[in-house]
Amino acid sequence: MVKAAEKQDSRRSFLRDSALAGGGLLAFEAGAAGLAADTAPAASSNEVIRTIRGLRTIHGNFLDKPVPEAALQTILQASLRTANASNNQSYSIIVIKDRGMMGRVCGYKGGCLLLYCADYNRMKASAESLGHEYDPGTMESFVTAAINTVLAAQTAVIAARSLGVDSLLTNGIHRGDMERLWTLLDLPQTHCFPIIALVLGYPTEEPAVLKGRLDGAGVIHNEKYHRLTKEEAEEITREYDDKQRHLAMNDNWGGEGYKHYLDWYFKAWVGEPAKARTEETQMLRRLKRSGFVELQKV
Ligand SMILES: Cc1cc2nc3c(=O)[nH]c(=O)nc-3n(C[C@H](O)[C@H](O)[C@H](O)COP(=O)(O)O)c2cc1C
Repeated sequence: MVKAAEKQDSRRSFLRDSALAGGGLLAFEAGAAGLAADTAPAASSNEVIRTIRGLRTIHGNFLDKPVPEAALQTILQASLRTANASNNQSYSIIVIKDRGMMGRVCGYKGGCLLLYCADYNRMKASAESLGHEYDPGTMESFVTAAINTVLAAQTAVIAARSLGVDSLLTNGIHRGDMERLWTLLDLPQTHCFPIIALVLGYPTEEPAVLKGRLDGAGVIHNEKYHRLTKEEAEEITREYDDKQRHLAMNDNWGGEGYKHYLDWYFKAWVGEPAKARTEETQMLRRLKRSGFVELQKV
């Protein structure tokens, strides 16, 4: 058994070693200036902040131009620097360069596709090789791995942009028959679950605007949770309607007969509310098959 003092010691050296090894992202050569004029005060702006503020999605219109191998490797190494629970890196990143395969996997094609999967199979193999019993088959394991996975993906987005490579995060992998992913990519049937696809590449044309974000009531809560007042909810409706804010995914909601953008969003985009479910969704079915839902037979 580890004594408290030893634990304390190892925690201290963990923190010291980590501090010495850190700083990877800040060392990037940041080349991306972003789209919009940077309105942040100079004191709160630097290359990293400018890169983050300039992030934008390319909605599928990528050139048929590969991402240079050196840039790809830098992006992957940056992605791996992301914090992750217990440093167990409970994810796998599948690098796909075949454009036909990119399309089949996520519905989009670019210079390269990184498929980020929550995955414990590497840890399982390590445990098995040492003769340990190891069972990551719980929702907690899944949520933790999903967090590790998406954080790593977002770091890749930032790193890519800093190198002048654009991106699209897409959950197109969860549309259509999800079983195709296991078939096409030979994914392990259990304890491996595709979370998000990241298409990297170069746009055929620059996006016209940088999308806005809500940043007030209901988004940032100070000290404790604040429930929206009626007036604040109405203000949000107005913010979405304000075309200067660039919050909408479709600016033609008026032309399509809707009074507010959010009317379009809830009716045309989200659609009818789900009826009381009588069948499980393919997502739940697949999570069960993947062994992450407790008390289920795989
Ligand atoms: C989980 C997730 C799934 C997404 N799926 C798609 C997608 O399938 N197609 C697409 O064009 N954009 C997709 N996006 C991009 C969003 O539409 C985009 O981030 C959002 O509209 C804000 O635009 P911006 O990233 O340019 O600021 C996705 C983003 C996330 C985080």
